[in-house]
Amino acid sequence: MLELQGVSKTFGELQVLRGIDLHLRQGTVSGLIGPNGSGKTTLVNIITGVYPPDSGRVLLDGKDISRASADQITRLGVSRSFQNVRIFNRMSVLDNVIAALIGHDKAGLTTLLGRAKRTGDPKVTTARQALKTVGLLEQRNLSASELPLPLRRRLEIARALACDPKVLVLDEPAGGMTPAETASISELIRSRIAPGRTCIVIEHKMDLISHVCQHLCVLNHGEKIAEGDPRSVVSQPEVIEAYLGRV
Ligand SMILES: Nc1ncnc2c1ncn2[C@@H]1O[C@H](COP(=O)(O)OP(=O)(O)O)[C@@H](O)[C@H]1O
Ligand SMILES: [Mg+2]
Repeated sequence: MLELQGVSKTFGELQVLRGIDLHLRQGTVSGLIGPNGSGKTTLVNIITGVYPPDSGRVLLDGKDISRASADQITRLGVSRSFQNVRIFNRMSVLDNVIAALIGHDKAGLTTLLGRAKRTGDPKVTTARQALKTVGLLEQRNLSASELPLPLRRRLEIARALACDPKVLVLDEPAGGMTPAETASISELIRSRIAPGRTCIVIEHKMDLISHVCQHLCVLNHGEKIAEGDPRSVVSQPEVIEAYLGRV
C-alpha cells in the first residue's frame, strides 16, 4: 500500500515538511489534521506527484513513485480531490467525469468526449456509476457551474472515484460547507466511498474525522506530532495544544 519514508520539503527558506513517515493501511481511512500551513496539502501534492520530495520516498505497493509525474501516479492508482475545487465549469456534470477518465489532454478533449458518448464507450457507464455513488446522477446534464459548492465537491469525488483508485486522497472534502452539509458528505464518505477502499482525508472538521477515520495523523509545523486511533490521538496534550488550542 502507500507508504511515506522520511519525506521532507523546503520552499525557499521555509521547511514545510520534516522527515514524515506515514503508512496507509489497506482498506482503511486515515485522517490527516493540523493547523493551517502545517504542510497537509504539500504532503498530498508530494503523494500525487505535483512535485517531488527534497528527500525521502513515497512507495506504492513497494514501488518508489517519488519521482513519477502526476499523470503517471494517477495511472498507477492514486486519485485525489482538490482543496480548491477543479472542475470544468462549462461542461456538464457527466462530461466532467468522463473527462477525468479520458485524461487531461485538453486539446482533444471535446472530440474525445463526443466520440465516447456516440460510440457507447464503457467510460460513459463508469462515469454514470461514479455519479450514482455520490448521489449526482439526476444532475448529470446540468452544467457543472450550476452546482452549489457541496455538490461541486461531490463531483470532484466522482471524478476521482471513476478512476477506481487504489488510494483515494480527499483534500478538505467539507471545505466551505455548513454543519448540515458537512454531516451529509461525512455520511457519504463513510457509507459509500470508504468501504473497501484505502483513503486519506485531510480535514479540519473533527466531527467528520471522527465519523470516517480509523487512523489519524497530526502535523504541526511540518512535523508529525501524533498518530494512532483517532480518539486517543485527539486526547493527547500535545495535539490539544497544537491543534485544538489550549483550554
Ligand atoms: N508551492 C509553494 N511555494 C511556496 N510556499 C508554499 C508552496 N506550497 C505551500 N507553501 C507554504 O508551505 C506551508 C504549508 O502549506 P500547505 O501545505 O498548503 O499547508 P496546509 O494544507 O496544512 O494548510 C505554508 O506556509 C505555505 O504558504
Ligand atoms: Mg491545505
